[in-house]
Amino acid sequence: MFHAPIVPRVRKRSRPAEADVPRREEVKFEDVRLYLVERKMGRSRRSFLTQLAKSKGFIVEDVLSDEVTHVVSEDSHASSLWKWLKECAPKNLKNLNVLDISWFTDSMREGRPVAVETRHLIQDNLPTLPEGSTSTPVTTVSQYACQRRTTTENHNKIFTDAFEVLAESYEFSEMEGPCLAFRRAASVLKSLPWAVRCLGATQDLPCLGEHTKAVMEEVLQCGRSFEVEKILSDERYQTLKLFTSVFGVGPKTAEKWYRRGLRSFTEILADRSIHLNRMQQNGFLHYGDITRAVSKAEARSLRTIIDEAVRAITPAAILALTGGFRRGKEFGHDVDFIVTTPELGKEKSLLPNIINGLKKQGILLFCDYQASTFDMAKLPSYRFEAMDHFAKCFLILRLEASQVEGGLHSAEGDSRGWRAVRVDLVSPPVDRYAFALLGWTGSRQFERDLRRFARVKQQMILDNHCLYDKTKVSAALDSQQLELIP
Ligand code: UTP
Ligand code: MN
Repeated sequence: MFHAPIVPRVRKRSRPAEADVPRREEVKFEDVRLYLVERKMGRSRRSFLTQLAKSKGFIVEDVLSDEVTHVVSEDSHASSLWKWLKECAPKNLKNLNVLDISWFTDSMREGRPVAVETRHLIQDNLPTLPEGSTSTPVTTVSQYACQRRTTTENHNKIFTDAFEVLAESYEFSEMEGPCLAFRRAASVLKSLPWAVRCLGATQDLPCLGEHTKAVMEEVLQCGRSFEVEKILSDERYQTLKLFTSVFGVGPKTAEKWYRRGLRSFTEILADRSIHLNRMQQNGFLHYGDITRAVSKAEARSLRTIIDEAVRAITPAAILALTGGFRRGKEFGHDVDFIVTTPELGKEKSLLPNIINGLKKQGILLFCDYQASTFDMAKLPSYRFEAMDHFAKCFLILRLEASQVEGGLHSAEGDSRGWRAVRVDLVSPPVDRYAFALLGWTGSRQFERDLRRFARVKQQMILDNHCLYDKTKVSAALDSQQLELIP
């Protein structure tokens, strides 16, 4: 006998005949149920991605039901997405992973649902939400910068700018501990793909102490920190900041000048008892230019210039852009390059020859060349954060506007048609290239934490020259044979 179904069937919209044949994809991941948010993604892309996921054995739900475990969205506006989710999600949003498309693409590439990492999450930043109410299984943020994925986009600039002022102020007072604490805190906040809107959101973050949180609270409540404002208006801070902005002037020299009662560049330059070294003289001479940020286009143009100078000497030479521009920064305070020869030992004459070439071109405004003091037998160096021993030079080069795509990053009204730019070249032997590149890519905090991680977690010593196995080094030191990791 035939009974009419209790629930009336909804007539399907007529579709092309072949689409009516149900495609039976094998389900491989029973525990994972995806829901793709159509907003921003669009209908056709959504159905394409749905098919793709199904073909790989994923279950994709058409509606946002209680069954859904992973919501994937291409909507980069976290707040509007969450607002929408809260309105239409069937039950509480606990146990729901709200993810951006990177999780989906990673999973498709791997052919399995990859583990949810912080970088995949679209966080709910609405301050109205009590902390912890989204119990998305967040992988904890590591205390080591080298274990955190950090983009160049900083969502927490209001805090990190404040921390930088505090760190600098402690640096001027030679208080390394608190200085480092604020630098670490800034690094953690820079790694977040979301903006901190309430203090509660920071409860699971590492490296944020009482002091940093107090500053954050002030910034959240008042839009500024009074402690930071006090520093910014402090005469000593202002003067040391001004003096150290000169190329070649470190905190020690700045302090010495401050103690002598000097407060301005005019006073320094007028003081006959002060002897400026060559670096400082050039720092003052090109002050306007070299305190102005270098753009990506300028860095690219300098790469071409250096590349030509290098090829003229050794066509097979290796040249790599490093420092902040290698990390994808739009602006930098200088441009850093690593240059070496494929044949070990041939790099010795490289920097002096490049310097000569730049001089002949008439673009070398300043050069401080430091020959190599690298000696494998004297390593490892236990001095933390010691400068490396590779040959290097700190340069100021003349860059013509005509050589830069889109023109120079100059002051308005500057019609010289050129500017001075700081360039660093470092030249390791080719068998040290990888370590040099790693060490010079930065950021400073990343490098610091990479070394700390190697030491504390891996029992190894890392520097710009090498990676050493600590457990073998101490024994080997006696026999003068170091165990190096290639
Ligand atoms: P920079 O000071 O050039 O910093 O050093 P940056 O990250 O490129 O940023 P800006 O834009 O220029 O300000 C680049 C990296 O080289 C390392 C530093 O640790 C930093 O991470 N470095 C620098 C060394 O390892 N040894 C040095 O002698 C100098
Ligand atoms: Mn740099």
